[in-house]
Amino acid sequence: EQANRGTQNSADFVVVANRLPVDLERTADGGQRWTASPGGLVSALEPFLRSRKGAWVGWPGVPDVDVEEFDDDGLVLHPVSLTSAEVRDYYEGFSNATLWPLYHDVVERPVFDRAWWNSYVKVNQRFARASAEVAAQGATVWIQDYQLQLVPAMLRELRPDLRIGFFLHIPFPPVELFMQMPWRAPIVRGLTGADLVGFHRPGGAQNFLWLCRQLIGLESTRGAVGIRTRPGTMQVGDRTVRVGAFPISIDANGLDTLARTKGVAERAAQLRRDLGNPKTVLLGVDRLDYTKGIDLRLQALHELLHEGRLRPEDVTFVQLATPSRERVEHYQRMRGEIEQMVGRINGEFARVGHPVVHYLHQSVDRTELAAFFSAADVMVVTPLRDGMNLVCKEYVACRHDLGGSLVLSEFAGAAAELSSAFLVNPHDLDGVKDALVAAITLDPAEGRRRMRAMRRQVLTHDVDRWARSFLQALGAEPVD
Ligand code: ADP
Ligand code: G6P
Repeated sequence: EQANRGTQNSADFVVVANRLPVDLERTADGGQRWTASPGGLVSALEPFLRSRKGAWVGWPGVPDVDVEEFDDDGLVLHPVSLTSAEVRDYYEGFSNATLWPLYHDVVERPVFDRAWWNSYVKVNQRFARASAEVAAQGATVWIQDYQLQLVPAMLRELRPDLRIGFFLHIPFPPVELFMQMPWRAPIVRGLTGADLVGFHRPGGAQNFLWLCRQLIGLESTRGAVGIRTRPGTMQVGDRTVRVGAFPISIDANGLDTLARTKGVAERAAQLRRDLGNPKTVLLGVDRLDYTKGIDLRLQALHELLHEGRLRPEDVTFVQLATPSRERVEHYQRMRGEIEQMVGRINGEFARVGHPVVHYLHQSVDRTELAAFFSAADVMVVTPLRDGMNLVCKEYVACRHDLGGSLVLSEFAGAAAELSSAFLVNPHDLDGVKDALVAAITLDPAEGRRRMRAMRRQVLTHDVDRWARSFLQALGAEPVD
C-alpha cells in the first residue's frame, strides 16, 4: 500500500509506534503545522531516539492525509496514513474503547466490536508493511504499545531477517480480565512474533507467560521474572522468545538541567504570584483520562474544604489536563463530570479573583511545565491504574531544591520505585485525604529526606538506562 520512497530498506534502527513524535495540526487559516505529540510514550522515546538517529514509523495524528517521509533533525519520520473510518474503528474504537479500558483493570467497560477488530488487523498489517519497507537487512525494529500488538508476528512473516522487540507502555492485565477478550489468542500470537516482549513490571510478564501456555500451548518458563534481569523464555518454533520487565523512565538529567535555569525559577515565582501567593500550591498534570483519578483528587479536596481541614484562603489546586481522545464516549462523560466538580468547588469556596481550583484544559510546553513543577508544594498523582506514570518522575527530577512532596497512587507502576512518596490507595478516599493533609503539613527536613531518596532513584534510572537494558536483553546492543 505504501509508496516506495525515502529510506527504503536502509534504516538499521527503527521505532514503530501508533503516533509519530509530532502531530500534524490543521490551523484555523487552513494551513498546517507540526506540534509535539501527547503522552508518555513520546516523552520517553523521543529524546532517546534523537540521540540514535534512527527511523520512526507512525501515524501523523490526523485522518486522511498522505505525508511523504521526512527528515526531522537527523531522525527519519515515516508516516503511515489512516482513513477517518480507521481512526474511528482502529484508534478510537479497538485501541481506546476496547484495549485501553480492558488493560486498565476495566475501570470503564470495554466495548467488544467485530468491525473494530477487523480494522485493527488491517491497520496493524499496514504498519508491518511500512516497517518492512524502512528496515535494512538484519536491522533492529522496536514496536511500541497496545495499538500494534499484531505487528511483531506480521513483520516476522514479511522479514524473518529482522531482530524484533516489543514493549507495552500500559499495564498488562490480570489473566482473568484478559480472558474476556474475544480475540485473545491472535493477540498473544501476534506478540510472540517478537524476540523480546517487554513490560513495565514482572507481574505483567508473568501474566503473559501464563497466557502463552494456556491459550496457544507454548512451553514457557515458570520462574519469577526479575527487573531488567532473569527474563522468562519460551520456544516458538525454532526461535527462543524472551519476556522481561523494564520499567520506563524519563530524560531525568535533561529535566534537572532545565529546572535549574534562571528562566524556570523566575517563571515559577511568577506563577505563585499569579496564584495570589497561597500558602500551599497543589498540582495535578495529566492527559484528561479516566484512569488518572482526577475526579478522586477533586472529591478529596472538596471534602477537606467542607470539613474545614483545609482553608480556601490557604490552598490553591492547579490541574493541567491535556485534551485526549475527545471523540470517545468514556472520555466525553468523564470530562463533563470533572468540569462540573471544578465548578462546584469554586462555586462554594472561591472569592472574587481567587478561585480554589485552576483548571486548564490545555497542554503546556516543557519549560512552562518545569516551572509548574518547581512552583508546586504538593504533586498529586492518583491514577486508578497506570502502567508507569512519568509525571511523578518529572516532578522529582525538577526538585533539585529538595522541596515539594509527592502523593502517589499505589496503582501506578512508579510506586514500586518511589517508596518515599505518600503512597495512597485511590479507592480509599479517607486515605487520600489524610495523605494530602500529611503532605501539606510535612516537616521540611523530613520532606527533604524523602525527596533526596526519590531523586537518587529517578536520576540513576533514566530513560537511557531503560532503553539500553531492553536493547541489551534483545541482543541488539553489547552488555556494559
Ligand atoms: P500517559 O502516557 O498516560 O499520558 P504519563 O504520565 O506516562 O501518562 O506521561 C504523560 C506525559 O505527558 C508526561 O511527559 C507529561 O509531562 C505530559 N503531560 C501531561 N499533561 C500535560 C499538560 N497539560 N501539558 C504538557 N504536558 C503534559
Ligand atoms: C499513553 C499510551 C501511548 C499514547 C499516549 C497518548 O502514553 O501508552 O501509546 O500515545 O498515551 O495517547 P494518544 O491516544 O493521544 O496517542
